[in-house]
Amino acid sequence: MPRSNKIYVHEKALAHLSRGLYRSPASALRELVSNAWDANARVVRIATNYPHFLQVSIEDNGDGFSKDEFKRLMAGNIGNSDKRPRNLTLINNRPVIGRLGIGMLGIAQICGSFRIMSSPKDGEPFAARVRLYDLMKERLDADDPEIVQSKQTGDQIDNQQFPITEIDVGEYTLEPYEPFTENKSGTRIIADDVHPTFSQSFRESLNAEGFEEPPLIWRKAVDVMAHVHSLQQLGDYWKLLWELSAACPIPYVSTDALPKALIKADDKRLQEYDFKVLVDSLELAKPIYLKGNPGGYTTFPIEEQERMIYGRKLRFHGYLAVQEGRQIKPDELRGIMIRIKNVAIGYYDPSMLDYKFNEGPRSRWLTGEIYIDEGLEDALNVDRDSFNRFHPQFRAVQQHIHKVLRGNVFPEVYQKIDERSVAKRDARSEARLSAFKEILAEATDGKVEIEPAEANVEFPILKRTGRKLKVQLPSEEALDTRKSQKQIAAAILTLYELSMLEKSSEAKRRRFSELLLRLFRSW
Ligand SMILES: Nc1ncnc2c1ncn2[C@@H]1O[C@H](COP(=O)(O)OP(=O)(O)OP(=O)(O)O)[C@@H](O)[C@H]1O
Ligand SMILES: [Mg+2]
Repeated sequence: MPRSNKIYVHEKALAHLSRGLYRSPASALRELVSNAWDANARVVRIATNYPHFLQVSIEDNGDGFSKDEFKRLMAGNIGNSDKRPRNLTLINNRPVIGRLGIGMLGIAQICGSFRIMSSPKDGEPFAARVRLYDLMKERLDADDPEIVQSKQTGDQIDNQQFPITEIDVGEYTLEPYEPFTENKSGTRIIADDVHPTFSQSFRESLNAEGFEEPPLIWRKAVDVMAHVHSLQQLGDYWKLLWELSAACPIPYVSTDALPKALIKADDKRLQEYDFKVLVDSLELAKPIYLKGNPGGYTTFPIEEQERMIYGRKLRFHGYLAVQEGRQIKPDELRGIMIRIKNVAIGYYDPSMLDYKFNEGPRSRWLTGEIYIDEGLEDALNVDRDSFNRFHPQFRAVQQHIHKVLRGNVFPEVYQKIDERSVAKRDARSEARLSAFKEILAEATDGKVEIEPAEANVEFPILKRTGRKLKVQLPSEEALDTRKSQKQIAAAILTLYELSMLEKSSEAKRRRFSELLLRLFRSW
């Protein structure tokens, strides 16, 4: 039997992962916010140096970490998170978010170096500057000897010596520690060396047409965003606010942010975690508030689902909400968002997890969130922004959502569309009837009474007594025309009969054409 051989991963793989992993500055900041959560922080403050954007800082009042822990982390424990092995338990029943040990370096995406300082609950406080090498990926590809070094003392496999490679992704220097917080403990990261493209693009976004300064109350900011088609219109700064507010494990603007108490229990749970995120003093909440739609909302709570998939448990719950007859605004709120440990994975997915039926414009009326209570983490890609869509657990979530969309949500939406169009038709024919009555009253200069038709009478019957005109309309069933034209046919026939009451044939003709044109004007 052939002997099986082990497969080893090269260090370069991890070095690649330490850089340029996230899709936007908000995703990188989301990782730092998640670290604050995992450190039992109650408040996280992000400052962007608005309107200059020359520096971004993030500070939390969590448990912090010590100089020794920091040194250990830098000396080879990047990519080796100990949060799960340590069975870390957090305050207020918070689930632990961190898993990989690479999230923190994501900040390198917006800066060349950053300062980090922490005042820990236990251990020695520290301050350090961390510099991550530029052009990391290119240098890795080229085996740049400055960062890729082979050590001869490698493993011996099959009598062959395989060197171990060590990769530097950057360097740090410890700095004198100065107290930076009035809290008992906490951590601060200052990206003071942000890439010029970052500052520039954020600054430019402030000058863009349509830019509005964000209000001081998030609830009002949500209103502003609900009036644009896309956040693109508001620019990078607003996008950052929106993306962070959508991604972080924070409460809603209010318990009734969604109709029919859809998120009541989730909002309560999120409140109980006692975790706040502020950006430039603005306290964020989820960027959704659906209310006051004239056509109402079709809602579908997804009660907790539990499945065993290849022996692994998957639990989730959530909601779907359809804003009847009106697109969800902004576009970024359309579709379905998946959250693991209450943190958004990517953004709202307008494809509704690759839903394969074409529901036309109706799919633009839908928004929904799925909270994964257990499982699915293995389906998560390292960027924490996307899933392996072929993972069986992802498939199970997808299947359930699609079943509900196809079997419950959209059928109800179609039924409501029918009801609305019947109601609209009734209202229109009512309005037309009263306009018609007015024409008759004007023409006869008297009172008009319209009586319902008798079955099978194909002609209008007009009775004039003094200044009073009584009209019995032809029965719609008896009129052999298309349904949509029966009402106008009955009106024309009536006007014809009315003109026939004139004396000369010239007057009859004139009267009819006058009334007919008047009728069309009112229709
Ligand atoms: N704000 C913070 N407060 C306390 N400790 C922190 C903070 N930020 C980072 N750390 C420490 O640095 C380590 C590395 O963080 P990093 O985000 O890179 O990894 P992780 O959170 O363990 O896993 P993941 O990559 O999945 O986020 C953490 O495990 C933690 O010990
Ligand atoms: Mg982390």
